[in-house]
Amino acid sequence: MSEKILLRHEDVANLRELDVYVSDGGYATALRVLKEREPEDIIEEVKASGLRGRGGAGFPTGMKWGFLPKDNPLRYLCVNADESEPGTFKDRQILEHNPHLLLESMVLAAYAIKCHKAYIYIRGEFAQGAKILEEAVREAVAGGHLGEDIYGTGFDLDVVVHRGAGAYICGEETGLIESLEGKRAYPRVKPPFPAVYGVFGAPTIVNNVETLCCVRPILERGAQWFKTIGPEKSPGPKLYCVSGHVERPGVYELPMGTNLRELIYDHCGGIPGGKKLKAVIPGGSSVPIFTADEIDVNMDFDSIAAAGSLLGSCGTIVMNEDTCMVRALRIIARFYRHESCGQCTPCREGTGWLERLMIGLEDGGANDRDVDLLMQVADNMMGNTVCVLADAAAMPTKSFVTKFRSEFEEHLQHGGCPQRSAEAMRASAHA
Ligand SMILES: Cc1cc2nc3c(=O)[nH]c(=O)nc-3n(C[C@H](O)[C@H](O)[C@H](O)COP(=O)(O)O)c2cc1C
Ligand code: SF4
Repeated sequence: MSEKILLRHEDVANLRELDVYVSDGGYATALRVLKEREPEDIIEEVKASGLRGRGGAGFPTGMKWGFLPKDNPLRYLCVNADESEPGTFKDRQILEHNPHLLLESMVLAAYAIKCHKAYIYIRGEFAQGAKILEEAVREAVAGGHLGEDIYGTGFDLDVVVHRGAGAYICGEETGLIESLEGKRAYPRVKPPFPAVYGVFGAPTIVNNVETLCCVRPILERGAQWFKTIGPEKSPGPKLYCVSGHVERPGVYELPMGTNLRELIYDHCGGIPGGKKLKAVIPGGSSVPIFTADEIDVNMDFDSIAAAGSLLGSCGTIVMNEDTCMVRALRIIARFYRHESCGQCTPCREGTGWLERLMIGLEDGGANDRDVDLLMQVADNMMGNTVCVLADAAAMPTKSFVTKFRSEFEEHLQHGGCPQRSAEAMRASAHA
């Protein structure tokens, strides 16, 4: 797929500006759909396209929209632009360079679900993105693409850009809703799901930025066209974020289901310095890791799950042969300990235990049972909490220990990181 759909700004200069976006065909789909089509028909088309959520879980978008209760006319649309999963930096590209694609897709989604108020919950640290979005909203309102009586059709949509509260948990959809309501981002027990009980208790659709940005192309070119890209059960264009030990890290737009080996070696130029590949986290820090022997897998929801990991947010982190897996897991453990909201005991205590055990293994002081203890703590965290942050900390732990156990044992026997003590010895010899 050479044509860029989501990263079209890479082909069209200044696409962020309204007049450039409009002269490139922007808002023509919104105009046509609002004038000619019925909302129910749009939901059916999105269902037929097979679009699945790009925020992490891969839930079918049209089906989610269809869950809104028919008897409550008050409803909200919430764009999840919190993008905080380590290794993930795709939504930011759209927010900063192609904001009108998001706004036009929001008009279409809001029309489909009959909603008149939408929020863009943007990661607190994305100051630049928030400024760009606010300007884009102003321009779109002035141009008649947003606000009251859009295109004279009688359809109104008010869009509010809301800066996030600066925590990873604000990206979990119910934590996001609490935060939007002005409270601490404690995730809610589900059910009820946001489609039934969301923002201010009203039915709410929460969708990721990339998910929503597929809506305009689907309605512009049709569900059947969308289904021709990638595998039948999770079709469409996909943004892959690749970081770590590759020649050309970055965000790549390729068909869903692109092969992981091809992504690393063909698109990203392979591993620098002729080094060997050691491991890859395919979908952001929350998902199980693959060893170098496991990368002949297609990057779509079902193929990655069948291979024992998850597509998640598609944050692909590549590690070369020099990477210490104990150190890598310690960094991941620190993140989840810091980001646990503390509401559930298995997560609050478990993430602390995981980090302490990892510190002992890397710095010395661990005892013989600690590698097994890591696995036990992780097992006890999974499936026992209000949201899946606990699982997000446990899953990488279990896969790192299972697949690289000898490295963990080596740290134990050595009383700390062998790589680090060798480096320290070399440094003191040269001092
Ligand atoms: C701890 C945690 C953090 C999350 N962070 C994000 C995020 O930053 N962005 C996002 O779109 N989804 C995030 N999600 C997933 C959302 O809860 C939700 O599934 C998603 O916004 C739904 O949109 P989609 O159907 O378009 O994928 C997170 C989930 C969890 C458990
Ligand atoms: S699992 Fe962790 S982050 Fe999620 S609600 Fe419980 S304590 Fe908070």
